[in-house]
Amino acid sequence: MNQEPLKAILPAEKIAEVEQWLAKYPADRRRSAVMGALRIVQEHCNHLNEERMNAVADYLGIPRIAVYEVATFYSMYFLQPVGKHVINVCTNVSCMLRGSDQIVAHLQKKLGIGFKETTQDGKFTLREVECLAACGGAPCCQIDFDYHENLTPEKLDKLLAELE
Ligand code: FES
Repeated sequence: MNQEPLKAILPAEKIAEVEQWLAKYPADRRRSAVMGALRIVQEHCNHLNEERMNAVADYLGIPRIAVYEVATFYSMYFLQPVGKHVINVCTNVSCMLRGSDQIVAHLQKKLGIGFKETTQDGKFTLREVECLAACGGAPCCQIDFDYHENLTPEKLDKLLAELE
């Protein structure tokens, strides 16, 4: 266990938040705090990279691969720099059948970017994600992790206009 790299990345109050996550689990289950720790690092640093993931692994005293497995599996983690607002559009089966292609086309045209891209002003990042488990409200997306269902181009325009 080497706590110094993460302490070099996060301010003391954020380290305290990581410790709060660790306190929720038995001392020999430090791995259980990995999701909370990654979220804290991501919120502070914008996105995760190898150095940050390694720092989390070293702080928790777990294999680095255990951190990579989590960070690369869940779409809630960003492995590339992102803009101020992140739009995750579901294109999985239910959303596809309910017109997610129109939603994607509208967003790409309106923002002038493709998936995995960020607008030049740094305001929006567009991402394609797998089923968001809101199939009953398809087509759906997350904007900054808030769910928006039964999307239409008009509804999207309204949502985007409300964002600073
Ligand atoms: S297919 Fe889009 S939420 Fe399930």
